[in-house]
Amino acid sequence: MRQETALLQWYIDAGVDEASDDQPRNYFAADVTVCPHPNFPHPTPLPQAGEGNFEQSTKRVREKDTFPLVSAMLPVSASLASHIAEARKLADAAVTLADLETAVCGFDGCAIKKMATNTVFADGNPQSRLMLIGEAPGADEDIRGIPFCGVSGKLLDKMLLAIGYDRTNFYITNTLFWRPPGNRSPSSDELALCRPFVEKHVALIDPELLVLVGGVAAKSLLGTEQGITRMRGKEYTYRTPYKDKEYKVAVIYHPSYLLRQPAGKRVTWQDLLAIRRVLSSV
Ligand code: URA
Repeated sequence: MRQETALLQWYIDAGVDEASDDQPRNYFAADVTVCPHPNFPHPTPLPQAGEGNFEQSTKRVREKDTFPLVSAMLPVSASLASHIAEARKLADAAVTLADLETAVCGFDGCAIKKMATNTVFADGNPQSRLMLIGEAPGADEDIRGIPFCGVSGKLLDKMLLAIGYDRTNFYITNTLFWRPPGNRSPSSDELALCRPFVEKHVALIDPELLVLVGGVAAKSLLGTEQGITRMRGKEYTYRTPYKDKEYKVAVIYHPSYLLRQPAGKRVTWQDLLAIRRVLSSV
């Protein structure tokens, strides 16, 4: 790998996935102007009118907004590959949702399971037309075994209730079924290990609309390195190897981000309205 490519990959692995400046800054230069708030150097520009309207943005969807099957794209090491193959075999064999839950609970190939209190599989109505996929369980979810039951989950519930959905008519799960220690971000290996289950999960629920909650879920399922700020407000499609169907996909900010950055709620409201529109049109 070329040195520049390796450096970029290093940034991406560390979670740096958005350029916040037009030009790179040389922080080694003597005369660099240091921002007074290094953690928040550039406020996010306010969205333009019409953003978040899927009907409009569908027309603008370009080829690159439809992503190929992620599970076919990623290079993996031999031992990881054997655990992924095991997950794939288990996912292949699951015929019902109950089979899939049993398979996930019995899968020992993902090391973080050893440190988790519970396997967090899903919550809500399996007959729902709306399926949400978040990142990974946090501390509350790990204790109770229910996705999105902590503070950020409460906010997500309120957001969905505002468009007429609650856990009796939406279904929710995560890209990982176990809490990453210390609430760190899921690694790409962990995501790859759980992906066969997630792919089967989508096929078994077979929703009309898939909502990916936050950048980790969006990247994992859509196989893109784009940041969440660029991804939200547009419509995507998703294919799982288990069903011959193109699922409509929306991407929204994660509620834990909105708790830290309430300014993002404004565009998220547009995204929620667009979700409601999509669901009322199908
Ligand atoms: N954040 C997530 O992404 N999922 C949960 O279940 C809880 C918090």
